[in-house]
Amino acid sequence: MTQAPESLNLSMNGVPERSLDRDCTTLSRHVLQQLQSFGPQAQDLSALMNRIALAGKLISRRLSHAGLMEGVLGFTGEVNVQGESVKKMDVYANDVFISVFKQSGLVCRLASEEMEKPYYIPENCPIGRYTLLYDPIDGSSNTDINLSLGSIFSIRQQEGEDLNGEAKDLLANGRNQIAAGYILYGPSTMLVYTIGKGVHSFTLDPSLGEFILTEENMRIPQHSPIYSVNEGNFWQWDESIREYIRYVHRTEGYTSRYSGAMVSDIHRILIQGGVFLYPGTLSKPDGKLRLLYETAPLAFLIEQAGGRATTGHMEILDVVPKKLHQRTPLIIGSPKDVAKVESFIQNGH
Ligand code: AHG
Ligand code: MN
Ligand code: MN
Repeated sequence: MTQAPESLNLSMNGVPERSLDRDCTTLSRHVLQQLQSFGPQAQDLSALMNRIALAGKLISRRLSHAGLMEGVLGFTGEVNVQGESVKKMDVYANDVFISVFKQSGLVCRLASEEMEKPYYIPENCPIGRYTLLYDPIDGSSNTDINLSLGSIFSIRQQEGEDLNGEAKDLLANGRNQIAAGYILYGPSTMLVYTIGKGVHSFTLDPSLGEFILTEENMRIPQHSPIYSVNEGNFWQWDESIREYIRYVHRTEGYTSRYSGAMVSDIHRILIQGGVFLYPGTLSKPDGKLRLLYETAPLAFLIEQAGGRATTGHMEILDVVPKKLHQRTPLIIGSPKDVAKVESFIQNGH
């Protein structure tokens, strides 16, 4: 009897290689499998993820050639709505997401931390039922030094008509996100996403130009002694956060990892466990990170993997923003480690 082709695929040392089926599990196919449907909603979501993947490929390509091209790295000289100096890659990546959704018929509005107001794609507006919220480049300070960067995305259903362009319906909590995830530009480019049915990671195979399934139904460890925070802000924090950091310093086994790009730090924590913190500071009481483009999408994803995300006082997914670019403090990661930080904030120990 002949064997199935994949069972013949043995590597040099006799270990079976990844099955052909898995190698053919592209992102768009995976979304359809997750939804177990070929209906219009499933087709839309699959197409949306495919476009996000295209944005990831374009950004990844530019980053990997940055040292060989003129005009890719460095600052533009502009300051964005967040009061932060804008890098050329921030602008490029912001425009990439707009470009990939033009004429998509899917997305009528895009809101990004780099744009003061949402960007409308009028030709999509009669039919585009979705809004894309995104952080085009997360960890901008790593751009010019060839270190890890990310993009963060979130998809919401558009509620109502938004005729006056105020996007008021976006001032809602994070529980109505339809999809969220990130692209990590590291040694390889990975895309990690959730549509509320677990968390799944894909790796870009540059020879195929496709994101191929790496791991399905990722689960974050309950606890790990990894903590990730910019300790340069120590004297800017509330005493309760300082007390937590003193606790990890005097407890054997804790180790610190902080890359300057939250997507990388959270990717590590998703796989190995631990906690990432960006608490409020004296100068920025709500911290640095933006709810709609950064903390809510990552909270949705990490919760789907069995983790937690809180401001220290409430779940991130319950926070209702008063304005588009609202910031929140963030404590995110393994449930036991998040609870530990929370107990310092709420009970002082
Ligand atoms: P962005 O590049 O989108 O502004 O986000 C950077 C964020 C986050 O990725 C990172 O963890 C943090 O800011 C780093 O900020 P500090 O330099 O203040 O630690
Ligand atoms: Mn960011
Ligand atoms: Mn950014």
